[in-house]
This record gives sequence, C-alpha cells and structure tokens, in this order.
Amino acid sequence: MDPKFWLERWENGETGWHRDEVHTELETHWRKLELPEKSRVLVPLCGASPDMAWLAAQGHEVIGVELSRLAVETFLKRHRVYHVAMEELGFRTYHGGRYQLWCGDFFATPADLLASISAVYDRASLVALPPDLRERYARFLADHLVPGTPMLLISLSYDQSEMKGPPFSVPPAEVERLFASSFDIAVLNHASALDETMRKRGLSALDEHTYLLRRKPIAGAGA
Ligand SMILES: C[S@@+](CC[C@H](N)C(=O)[O-])C[C@H]1O[C@@H](n2cnc3c(N)ncnc32)[C@H](O)[C@@H]1O
Repeated sequence: MDPKFWLERWENGETGWHRDEVHTELETHWRKLELPEKSRVLVPLCGASPDMAWLAAQGHEVIGVELSRLAVETFLKRHRVYHVAMEELGFRTYHGGRYQLWCGDFFATPADLLASISAVYDRASLVALPPDLRERYARFLADHLVPGTPMLLISLSYDQSEMKGPPFSVPPAEVERLFASSFDIAVLNHASALDETMRKRGLSALDEHTYLLRRKPIAGAGA
C-alpha cells in the first residue's frame, strides 16, 4: 500500500479508525500476558492511539512505529509528552517519558530494537494492511521477535464484498494461516463490533476477535 495513502489520511483528518478512549479489549486482557512492569511493548502502526498512554501508565516502555509524523506529533501533544526528536537509522525518533516513537516504515524497524521487545500490541494494524503486506507483517514479526514473546492482537472480520478496506477483513482462518507456523494462538474473545459508521459503509456484520499469540521456540535452536 502506498505510504501516500496514509500520509494523506492524516493530513486530511480522515482518521475514522482513531478512538479517543482506550480499547476495552486491551484493558480486559492485557494482564493475561503476565508482563513485568518495565517491559518494552511494541505498538506497530501505532497512529496516535491512546492505548499507548494506557500501556505507559502500566509502567511499560512503549515503542511505537508509525509512518506519519503528524500522527506521532499529535499523540505527543495530546498526552503532553516532553520529548526530544532526532534522526536515527533512517527514522525520525521521538524520545520522552516512557515513549520511544519511531516515525518511518515499520518494515525498516531495526532488528536490535525488535529483539529487545517483551510484548506486542496490535489493534487496527494487521487489518490496515492489504493481503501481501499482511504476509510480510507476520513473517517480519516471526523473524525478529524473541521466542516466548506474547502479542495481543485485535482483528476484524466481515464479508469483504460488502466493503473495500482498510480495515480489511482478517478472519480467524487467515490469522491461523499467517501466524500458526511461528506462534501459538489462543482466542480470548469474540464479539460483534458493528456500529453505525460501519453499517453506513455497507457492512451487515462485523466481528472482532482478540487473540493471544506467543512466538514459538525456533526449531533447531537451543541445546
Ligand atoms: C488504521 S490505522 C491504526 C492506528 C492505531 N493502531 C490505532 O489503533 O489507532 C493504521 C496506521 O498505520 C500507519 N501505517 C500504515 N502503513 C505503515 C507502515 N508501513 N509503517 C508504519 N506505519 C504505517 C498509518 O499511518 C496509520 O496511522
């Protein structure tokens, strides 16, 4: 997907996916990851999500990666994060409080940074990507996360003929196909997420699944 698509969405204020409230699935299920307070949490394609502020409030260090500078700066402003900005490894990075926000292409995130991650939170990130990039996203995470790393994934599914994405429909069978070879997968919740906005976009049903994924041990590694 052309980065221009997303940059223009931010510039034109067409950010219908953005919520001002913390996602209830995050609040409900996060403790199941059993993370120590200071764990480093990766939020891929983070936008200006207030879920990052919730994660920071749990004592975590939040690593957000986002294409749009406007999104990152909006988050920092809204949450009054005193920060310094610099150019690092092809990204513009923002460091402040419990946040490190990396502005650039997620698929260029430095391997060292990914290897230091204790957990991943994905809401509206996998489903923002078209099929070929979803494959790449799942492979990229599998290639870089340390075995044992948990990931809370909130995904959407609907009849793709009723609406053009994003968000794209990523049903359970696809989550299985994308992740099962490298991650253990547990479904934590399944509920309807159909609201007026999505009804107006043509959907007759919209399902939200919350998963707990965990990077499997790498075959052949270890003693
Ligand atoms: C649907 S929004 C979801 C944002 C956030 N996860 C939330 O819940 O509000 C998808 C975001 O991914 C960003 N994005 C898309 N492709 C990206 C990429 N390759 N690297 C980094 N960010 C990307 C977009 O700019 C947009 O802010």
